[in-house]
Amino acid sequence: MNLFVKKNLEQLLQEAESKELKRSIGKWALVALGIGAIIGAGLFVRTAAASAESAGAAVTISFIVAAVGCALAGLCYAEFASMIPIAGSAYTYSYATMGEFVAWFIGWDLVLEYALGAATVSIAWSEYLNKLLKSVAGWEIPYEWCHSPFQSDNGVHGIMNIPALFIIFILTLILIRGVSESATVNGIIVIVKVAIVILFIALGWSYINPVNHTPYMIPEGTAGHEGFFEHGWGGILAGAGTVFFAFIGFDAVSTAAQETKDPKRDMPFGILVSLAICTVLYILFAHVLTGVANYTEFEKAGKEASVAYAIETYMTKYSWLALFVTIAILAGFSSVILVMLLGQSRVFFSMSKDGLVPPIFSKVHPVYQTPYKSNQIFFIFVGLFAAFIPGDVVGDMTSIGTLFAFVLVCIGVIIMRKTDPNTPRPFKTPFSPVVPILGALVCLAMIIGLGAENWIRLIVWMLIGLVVYFVYGRHHSKLQKQKVA
Ligand code: ALA
Repeated sequence: MNLFVKKNLEQLLQEAESKELKRSIGKWALVALGIGAIIGAGLFVRTAAASAESAGAAVTISFIVAAVGCALAGLCYAEFASMIPIAGSAYTYSYATMGEFVAWFIGWDLVLEYALGAATVSIAWSEYLNKLLKSVAGWEIPYEWCHSPFQSDNGVHGIMNIPALFIIFILTLILIRGVSESATVNGIIVIVKVAIVILFIALGWSYINPVNHTPYMIPEGTAGHEGFFEHGWGGILAGAGTVFFAFIGFDAVSTAAQETKDPKRDMPFGILVSLAICTVLYILFAHVLTGVANYTEFEKAGKEASVAYAIETYMTKYSWLALFVTIAILAGFSSVILVMLLGQSRVFFSMSKDGLVPPIFSKVHPVYQTPYKSNQIFFIFVGLFAAFIPGDVVGDMTSIGTLFAFVLVCIGVIIMRKTDPNTPRPFKTPFSPVVPILGALVCLAMIIGLGAENWIRLIVWMLIGLVVYFVYGRHHSKLQKQKVA
């Protein structure tokens, strides 16, 4: 038994070539793919949450910190993606480079990113759906049926979040039918999403009230913000961990490596350019949002569907915009959830093919040719979180899980340079090992900023993974069996 048994890199690359997927995606289509997966609940919901909980108006600085972490980790992702241009993301990279145990660790950890990410966005979807119903029909879903049992408002307790469960159900059905989002639909959604962000920035700019930006950080001694990570620079760091959610998805670009025209050149371009565009938009957006409404409002009335709230409350001349924004956001969230659910089933599909998780996860539908059993199982798993756990909790768990994967990818680059110095690297992370080390450190700092509760959740999840690996994975691993035979 060798915990660090590796897949053969050359064999992997040959397998990838032999699949003959059509290489039709160009570099700008990759950027669109990235932006399609990136802009979502992180911006439209978590910005306000981070601002209210810890960063205040300085959530803009939180975005900068998160962007720096992502850019550094993104450079490391780009090196892997250009070196191993194969679908499967960090799991596949690590199987070829750091061996089975680390690959398992990352694959298991990616469940937090993809499955819980989907749950988080579905909960945000539920908030915006309610806003839409209220403005169109003058009616909204009763509080108890669109919140988790761990939430309450004026003595009313949540029971279950039905709209969140509903959207996961519909999108699971779509995935099972195999109606994958076409490039055209994705392109339209991307344009609409970027358009509303720019529109909100442009129209909201003149509604910025400088009072809301003073003081910029939450000052020490503010009631309800006593903890180190609830005000000042500590608060900014915690906010970075929270808004980091808004950047999740740029790694989805790497999953299209096999369908990219020139992956070696286009992968790094797709990853880094989509990240850069989003960063600029996010900082401006956060500046306007916290300028139009005060961060304290996002603790109360403006907590949910914060963008629609800010427009309806302060930019009353543009209330039509609130409706348009809400509809666009609902469409945008749906595409993010779809990508996340798809990513989740792909990762478990690969893991199942490798024998690390049961074969049911790679059982393909006889007609639709999709991993339908896996989709069904993840519907139950994701649905439970969507229906019964608050968005803040699953959102932070998604962030911490993804940050952890990023730390491992950064470290992976350093290890690879030592163990496989001669493998061609069409894109090289600059200034290695400085950039990978800094990337790992910034991501680690955000993990720390997310606080003890989230560390415990991450540790518990990874310990469960460890048990599953030693009880199931290592005994069924195809690679282990091959090596023994
Ligand atoms: N970055 C994606 C979002 O914000 C996950 O919804």
